[in-house]
Amino acid sequence: MTALQSRAFSPGRFARTAYRVREGSGELSPFCRVALIGDRLVAALRLTPINVGDRSGALLLGPLAVDPDEAGRGYGRRLVAEFFDIARAEGIAVVVLVGDMAYYGRFGFAPVPPGQIRLPGPVDPARLLAAELQPGALAGFRGLVARAA
Ligand SMILES: CC(C)(COP(=O)(O)OP(=O)(O)OC[C@H]1O[C@@H](n2cnc3c(N)ncnc32)[C@H](O)[C@@H]1OP(=O)(O)O)[C@@H](O)C(=O)NCCC(=O)NCCS
Repeated sequence: MTALQSRAFSPGRFARTAYRVREGSGELSPFCRVALIGDRLVAALRLTPINVGDRSGALLLGPLAVDPDEAGRGYGRRLVAEFFDIARAEGIAVVVLVGDMAYYGRFGFAPVPPGQIRLPGPVDPARLLAAELQPGALAGFRGLVARAA
């Protein structure tokens, strides 16, 4: 999965703030999804359970990595849609990510109101996005993001 992420992202990816939340969590959560063609990994979506302030029930989405040779063929969309169905069934309330509104807006993500949710490092506020899986849930999630134990 790491090789795929290296192909999909620039080498600077380890410096990104979202990685600070995930670092040290070698384990994949039950929400993670992959797409295979035969035995070739072509897309991978990672989800990390997080607390926001003192609230659990949220996930940090990312990275979503699609093999550049397979980009634009719906793998990203399908992995996110599958994950949303599972997360909803599991009672997840909110999904947070750092990414492009131009891509993630189609899944119901929108910018987090300024200052409501903080990551342990600098983030462009326009790229800090959240999706509610339960209507109105985002209002209850305030404060610093930390990986859930
Ligand atoms: C971004 C990425 C995850 C999309 O996955 P994918 O499987 O190629 O995308 P899908 O086939 O599901 O969706 C394709 C649609 O997304 C759009 N799209 C792809 N990347 C986009 C981006 N960075 N911004 C806006 N739209 C984007 C395409 O134009 C296409 O739009 P259409 O449905 O209107 O034709 C993938 O290309 C990737 O890993 N890129 C490298 C990492 C990256 O740039 N991530 C940025 C997101 S944080």
